[in-house]
Amino acid sequence: MKKIETRDGLSLSELSLGCMNLPLNDEKETEKIIEYALSEGINYFDTADFYQFGDNESVLGRVLDKYRSRYDFNIGTKGGNDFDRIKREPKGWNPDKAYIKEAAKESLRRLKTDVIDLYQLHGGTIEDDKDEVISALEELKTEGIIRSYGISSIRMNVIDYYKKHSNINTLMMQFNPIDNRPLEVIDGLDDITVIARGPLFKGVFSSHSERVLTKKFENGFLSLNTDDMRQVTEELKEIDSDLSRLSYRFLSYHNAVIANGVSSLQQLEENIKSFNQSEPLSIDEYDKIYQALKILKYEDHRS
Ligand SMILES: NC(=O)c1ccc[n+]([C@@H]2O[C@H](COP(=O)([O-])OP(=O)(O)OC[C@H]3O[C@@H](n4cnc5c(N)ncnc54)[C@H](OP(=O)(O)O)[C@@H]3O)[C@@H](O)[C@H]2O)c1
Repeated sequence: MKKIETRDGLSLSELSLGCMNLPLNDEKETEKIIEYALSEGINYFDTADFYQFGDNESVLGRVLDKYRSRYDFNIGTKGGNDFDRIKREPKGWNPDKAYIKEAAKESLRRLKTDVIDLYQLHGGTIEDDKDEVISALEELKTEGIIRSYGISSIRMNVIDYYKKHSNINTLMMQFNPIDNRPLEVIDGLDDITVIARGPLFKGVFSSHSERVLTKKFENGFLSLNTDDMRQVTEELKEIDSDLSRLSYRFLSYHNAVIANGVSSLQQLEENIKSFNQSEPLSIDEYDKIYQALKILKYEDHRS
């Protein structure tokens, strides 16, 4: 599996495992998924403290711990969304330095690791005291709690600030041929690595595309209605009949780490099969894909 080197020296597999939708209530099945991912060369696992109010990190930490002696892997998690672990309720966005530092230490404990390879700010607004956030992240790095940090955001003004004033290593955004808003952002990122979440757009880019469009996108997406989305996938199928493979090739062209979420082993098997058949796109093929896209723009939070 190809690795993407980040500027802080992380070596992340191009295809990575988004852990948000793992079947946590069936830990055996979750372990099968994780073991299969590792055996296929996936070395980056993406989670967040907020997913299932800490349980996602706990299960991932428990399972990965069993494989530590056999595999080298990286764990990425996220913080900033405060929650009540006992009541299992969200408490809202909290960018306070003391909170972020404490949250990272809680994640470290749940993940059963000595150091968090990638700690991501789980959102953020332009109103936050961003220098305090950066100071928290830098201190966590100096203290050896985290190895590197990044942000998860599509807000242009937030991205711009962290790009100029911090050492973010990565930027996570939802990115696929339909949600193509990151296209506007990526050219100015220099050596910041893009982590593309939602590469299959909940299954739109899979062999189950029609069912997913009808069931999960009956109201469309942003300015696109379901028929607009269907038109895009139909045109893209003319270029590559395997929609998952097409999306992977599109993201690979942009050098992204692809954070693919799954809820079953079968999905991961299907996805890895398509990923392993992905040939690099030529410029001509990329141009054809680009012509079929409906270009979306993130309208808010620009200044
Ligand atoms: N703000 C943030 O930072 C943020 C937000 C969201 C996600 N993330 C991260 O990004 C990761 C990926 O995001 P995502 O889970 O939204 O990605 P995604 O790839 O768009 O969606 C994953 C879902 O797609 C469906 N799917 C996957 N493979 C399939 C296949 N072969 N056939 C049919 N359906 C398939 C499954 O839905 P079903 O389970 O319904 O079958 C699966 O749960 C997450 O796991 C998480 O780590 C970050």
